[in-house]
Amino acid sequence: MSDHDQVKMTAMEYDKDRPKAENPVLVEDLTLRDGHQSLFATRGRTEDMIPVAEMMDEVGFWAVETWGGATFDTMHRFLNEDPWERIRTLKRYMKKTPFSMLLRAQNLVGYRNYADDLAKAFVERAAANGMDIFRTFDALNDYRNFETVVPVIQACGKHFQGCICYTMTEPRMGGEVYNLDYYVQKAKDLEAMGADSICIKDMAGLIAPYDAYAIVKALKAAVKAPIHLHSHFTSGMSPMSHLKAIEAGVDIIDTCMTPYAYRTSHAAIEPLVMTLLGTSRDTGFDIRHLAAINEVLERDVMPKYKHLLDDSKVSIIDINVLLHQTPGGMLSNLVNQLRQMDALDRIDEVYKELPRVRKDLGQIPLVTPTSQIVGIQTVNNVLFDDENERYKMITDQVKDLCYGLYGKTAVPIDPEVQKKALKGYARGEEPITCRPAEVLEPELPQAEEDVKGLAVDLDDTILYAIYPVTGKKFLKWKYGKEEPPEAVKPKTLDQVKAEDELVKKARAGLLVEKKTQAAPAKSENLRTFNVFVGDEFYEVGVDAQGESPVISYMQQMPAQMPQAPMARPAAAPAAPVAPPAPAAPAKEAEAAPPQAETASVDGTPLPAPMPGMIVSYAKQVGDAVDEGETVVVLEAMKMENALPSPTGGTIKAINYSSGDSVAKGDVLLVIG
Ligand code: CO
Repeated sequence: MSDHDQVKMTAMEYDKDRPKAENPVLVEDLTLRDGHQSLFATRGRTEDMIPVAEMMDEVGFWAVETWGGATFDTMHRFLNEDPWERIRTLKRYMKKTPFSMLLRAQNLVGYRNYADDLAKAFVERAAANGMDIFRTFDALNDYRNFETVVPVIQACGKHFQGCICYTMTEPRMGGEVYNLDYYVQKAKDLEAMGADSICIKDMAGLIAPYDAYAIVKALKAAVKAPIHLHSHFTSGMSPMSHLKAIEAGVDIIDTCMTPYAYRTSHAAIEPLVMTLLGTSRDTGFDIRHLAAINEVLERDVMPKYKHLLDDSKVSIIDINVLLHQTPGGMLSNLVNQLRQMDALDRIDEVYKELPRVRKDLGQIPLVTPTSQIVGIQTVNNVLFDDENERYKMITDQVKDLCYGLYGKTAVPIDPEVQKKALKGYARGEEPITCRPAEVLEPELPQAEEDVKGLAVDLDDTILYAIYPVTGKKFLKWKYGKEEPPEAVKPKTLDQVKAEDELVKKARAGLLVEKKTQAAPAKSENLRTFNVFVGDEFYEVGVDAQGESPVISYMQQMPAQMPQAPMARPAAAPAAPVAPPAPAAPAKEAEAAPPQAETASVDGTPLPAPMPGMIVSYAKQVGDAVDEGETVVVLEAMKMENALPSPTGGTIKAINYSSGDSVAKGDVLLVIG
């Protein structure tokens, strides 16, 4: 039967005369990891995966991606969920389909290279908890960073998928660094390491269809291992690239279920199934079964997440990716950071500075964590440099990169930038050329010591070792030593309905409803909340009576009403509808110490130059400090910034502690 004949089939005849394809395209589903990571800031909860898990297990996917990337970080930090538990739970519902995870090689699921003992333990525990396929990549494509984890993957009898991060310096594949030869050589290197499959990891959606064709053809000719294409939709090219890659003989393609597809995520599976129906590369998937999964997701799951979808633009394609060749997620991070710092008007300077910084730092690929490293340094340069001095505020991660702690860059780092970054660097001012982890001391013994009495097993210790600040906080929640905050609790469908109702009433003007039914007398439980709907602002009174709070009044406020009373305006809109809501705003207020307290201490304040989380204070009250000495380490956008003392003297006041979130301008400490 020819392809042409197949086109004539109607949907009803879909299964009739559908021959088994000679060489079906294998599909990995990314819904449960990259899908919600790309669209919903990795906020997907395990309880929202369970309703579709068994159905997804029946599709016939080559693998389902369930873990890795940002899940480990986000789950313990924002969802109060144990990441290890997710693999074990999902495994109970998905017994047939292999699980795949994204492993950042020696970076594991974090943002720096970890010591060998921790890397080995992590892979062993991931395998023991149920991981089958380790999609392994290194942000610099420096495969020396694979040397520790790969033998462990193999010793555990698991599938080692080696990645080549796809990146460019030109509008299309080619140029001096990232040309076809580069990718072929990398594939051969991976084959030599025993890769069970090789993945072209196009995290930014940069691969153009004809380049995808050329690269897949070349790799198929050069190596024996199956070739896998991971290409984000961001730029809009990926469905075309998928098809050209399939024509070139690619073995495995990555897709998502429709509700988790497109935008910065991946192409949807359903159009691919129909595209290949009846051809020699037919997936063999039942599209009605896929539709049934989508129905459950749309009805029972998506309502809880739609508020996280970035719908600031109607367009689902990011043209900037085509213009700037940078990952979409990275650009949105930059925009967010600039917005938080009231500097969104400087975005064009950021676009200009970004390729300069990347070149200075050795023309590295832009993928986690290098995309953050280059991105944050770029923002720092734009905001803090002047005409006399570049690289005024260098992040610790850039210093590490310049030292060689991430590995070998594609081209050498600019010697001047490197010298400046390494001035006074703790490990030494002379960069290393060996495999980075060779200079790292074992980490597990110290981690075990740190969480003695708190961690119950090795999984707990590993979590802490990778995320010391938030990991410790999570372990306290997990073992009931600290009450988790409201913000980490799951949203229910009832809450979503209540929120939608509230917004609807607000838009319609609830005063009308008030007239039809006499409002009950206000009780002492009455709390008032500010609700922001777009530019409109309402004051809502909520009266808690037993279990169910009653909205007792709602009043539209003038549009110019200042939002000043809110310490964190962004956190405010969510508060009013959660039933035990009164606690939420109160906690927010407690978290930020009153400004008056800091004002009462005389001395030079150190305000936070950017919003972020306190990692640690290098000094204590009463300590002497020199001007320029590091006093606080502040994590912003996953990067750590060592903040220097603005003056010499004695630490008079320290206003926060490790793990606290701060806004731009919050006084971190006072020096007198
Ligand atoms: Co991805």
